[in-house]
Amino acid sequence: MTGIAVIGTGYWGKNHVRTYSELANDGVIDNVKICDLDEKRARELGEAFNIEYLTDYKELISDPKIDAVSIVTPSATHSQLAKEFMEAGKDVLVEKPMTMNAEEAEKLVKISEDTGRILMVGHIFRHHPAVKELKHRIDLGEFGKIQQISSNRLSFGAPRKDMGVIYALGIHEVDMFCHLMDRDYPDTIFAATSRCLQSNIEETAMITMDFGGIRTYALESWLMPAYGKQRDLVVVGSEKTAKIDYLKPQELQIFDIRIAEQDYDGNTAFNVENEGSYTIPIPYAEPLKEELRHFIKCVEDRFTPISGGSIGQRAVVMAEAALESARTGMVVSFI
Ligand SMILES: NC(=O)c1ccc[n+]([C@@H]2O[C@H](COP(=O)([O-])OP(=O)(O)OC[C@H]3O[C@@H](n4cnc5c(N)ncnc54)[C@H](O)[C@@H]3O)[C@@H](O)[C@H]2O)c1
Repeated sequence: MTGIAVIGTGYWGKNHVRTYSELANDGVIDNVKICDLDEKRARELGEAFNIEYLTDYKELISDPKIDAVSIVTPSATHSQLAKEFMEAGKDVLVEKPMTMNAEEAEKLVKISEDTGRILMVGHIFRHHPAVKELKHRIDLGEFGKIQQISSNRLSFGAPRKDMGVIYALGIHEVDMFCHLMDRDYPDTIFAATSRCLQSNIEETAMITMDFGGIRTYALESWLMPAYGKQRDLVVVGSEKTAKIDYLKPQELQIFDIRIAEQDYDGNTAFNVENEGSYTIPIPYAEPLKEELRHFIKCVEDRFTPISGGSIGQRAVVMAEAALESARTGMVVSFI
């Protein structure tokens, strides 16, 4: 059985702590510890979940009861922490973005290979039940030829100060679009951003990626008060269309609709064939719990995670390319 520590118990780390605590209660792991530089935060959470807490992560490095760690600290600290833990023989789940630049991401992948440690990245949507169902159906050919993919990740709230929407949110889409298109990278990326609140941090981005003429669009913003919290994905195929509301992991919506070309005396006409829509129910599973269960399984059985280090690395490379495109106004090519 496995001992896990969560480093960083802020906004997102709290969810890791709650979920590991549930997994410990279910007997999936046998030891959970938490660590935060902020003693009050660590103590409050430790007391709430009856978990041992500490403030210095170095104590975990030499702790024989800890096999693996979730690193949920600010992204700029991921690289150093992940390196130290892997070099000390611990397996690592590092939150997304894996690092804040491609060079550091490449180094982490190399350290993972050299040390034989598991390196997993918190690309949570790879563990989302509706996404898994969608990908399975795409691979079976149910949607025909993919024609377009789009995503909206919109909200209204205080902006982050450590990174803009491309690294904070768009990192999910660049990975998801490649995953759905079965590609490591798109042919090209183009991004346009706006910075109204902080001069160096974009609060809105439109990222488009081209996969051999098939376009994907991601709109990312935390300056959008009109839609509540919106997180969706639409895959348009030549036969059917699918929609996922990421906030509803138990549903995949299918639109049995297509545009058919017909020839009338040598003239092409487009007809909409609409056979209605329906929802495929999926057994409920919390995406974060699926992700952490998968991490534990990788630690115990020593297999490569479905959101492993090279996937996190490629996502960082694409986020960097999107920022470069926004800065220069030019398309960035991967071919
Ligand atoms: N997968 C997702 O959907 C998702 C969602 C939100 C955030 N995140 C990621 O999670 C990470 C954390 O984001 P957040 O919003 O929770 O940040 P946060 O600022 O709310 O929390 C970070 C915590 O880490 C602690 N910390 C910093 N350095 C530390 C160290 N050396 N040792 C121990 N504790 C340390 C801080 O005291 C703080 O409590 C980021 O990388 C972010 O991108 C992922």
